[in-house]
Amino acid sequence: MDNSKIQVLTGMHDILPAEAGIWRAFESAVAEVTREYGYEQIRTPLLEETRLFVRSIGEETDVVGKEMYTFDDNGTSVSLRPEGTASCLRAVIEANYLYDGPKKLWYMGPMFRHERPQKGRYRQFHQFGIEALGFEGPDIDVEIVAVGRALFRKLGFKDGDLSLEINSLGNKEERALYREKLVEYLKKHESILDEDSKRRMTTNPLRVLDTKNPELQEMCEKAPKLIESLGEESLAHYEEFKEYLTALGIAYVENPRLVRGLDYYNQTVFEWTTTELGSQATVLGGGRYNGLIGDLGGKDQPAIGFALGIERLLLLATQKGLINPSEEPDVYLMHQDGKTKMAAFQLAEKLREAGWTVLMHYGSKKLKNQFQKANQSGARWGVVVGESELEKGVAALKDLKGDKGQVEVAMGELPAFLKTWKS
Ligand code: HAM
Repeated sequence: MDNSKIQVLTGMHDILPAEAGIWRAFESAVAEVTREYGYEQIRTPLLEETRLFVRSIGEETDVVGKEMYTFDDNGTSVSLRPEGTASCLRAVIEANYLYDGPKKLWYMGPMFRHERPQKGRYRQFHQFGIEALGFEGPDIDVEIVAVGRALFRKLGFKDGDLSLEINSLGNKEERALYREKLVEYLKKHESILDEDSKRRMTTNPLRVLDTKNPELQEMCEKAPKLIESLGEESLAHYEEFKEYLTALGIAYVENPRLVRGLDYYNQTVFEWTTTELGSQATVLGGGRYNGLIGDLGGKDQPAIGFALGIERLLLLATQKGLINPSEEPDVYLMHQDGKTKMAAFQLAEKLREAGWTVLMHYGSKKLKNQFQKANQSGARWGVVVGESELEKGVAALKDLKGDKGQVEVAMGELPAFLKTWKS
């Protein structure tokens, strides 16, 4: 029999209890922020038809071209979702959910990309994303950015811990025009291009500007800028977007080379980045994707959204010592077995019904050992139901962290009594 150890898959990870508290704190902050801004939750399957991602994210992107977990399911090609936007639109179109006007949605959950793992880059990772469907903007573009800032603030980040980069990609026609200009320019410099950039020059030339190759930086700096190909309407949208950002006190840096890695973007694009996570610097990325709802078979509507990489944000928060959820119990409940254990069990249930967190003692009968365990648990109070207490119908309550000492309280009154002891 094969009894070798089985390990987690490369690029995937468990979230053990010590870390789970931070995740829950993050999830609570998400619940608050999305409520404050009026976004509704949507939950979609992890598995979709492969062609959904091919048609939305684009065949030539790294995500679809190289990174999807794809397999055949009885003749249908299916893929684990590499991101949330496509599934979200598929669901909304299918349910005709936009029939009575624009909608603002949020989602959270695992995504899958078969990438080379490194710090901040995994094969199963988690995103929190929002999508505003049916809004022209640019006011909503700014709201989307503001949701990100509100979440960062709620988690204890200071403005400036993350920097906002913005750009405008213009509309389809403007980008096509720019693409021609750029390819012409790249062709002139073909002799210095690396293999990746040569391939991208024909498949997705805008992505060449995204290269990390230091030898190409100068050539990229001097390349024609997309913003110079934008028409009046796109420019006005972008200008107004910037004015609103300023009005809300959101600092930004314009990055004319910001193009994003998925094909569906146009007009406004943005990323929140950090210098503290090495090469995986983008914590949140998003932008406008007008036209995509139509391309996927829905009634065409403008749309914009973002997704945040939860692992990256929590890594950064941990590095900065933010988010320290306290998970310590209120009460450690001790007893002397037999009838006292039974009474302690009943008391524990009453305390929990009243909202207190209670750890019941299991194991050694010696009270000294039990008190050691109580202290190790971090509980605020030790409660003992011993034989003498049980006879009197009381519990002995001991303050384990403060200087209130020890008192006897009638068992039935303990849940309420603790409230008065709390301060
Ligand atoms: P994305 O830029 O591909 O956009 O991903 C968004 C964020 O997910 C990234 O900025 C990063 O923090 C995180 N992320 C991506 N890949 C990984 C990975 N392998 N490991 C860890 N974290 C990762 C989207 O997914 C779009 N759907 C965003 C969007 C929504 N645009 C409009 N609406």
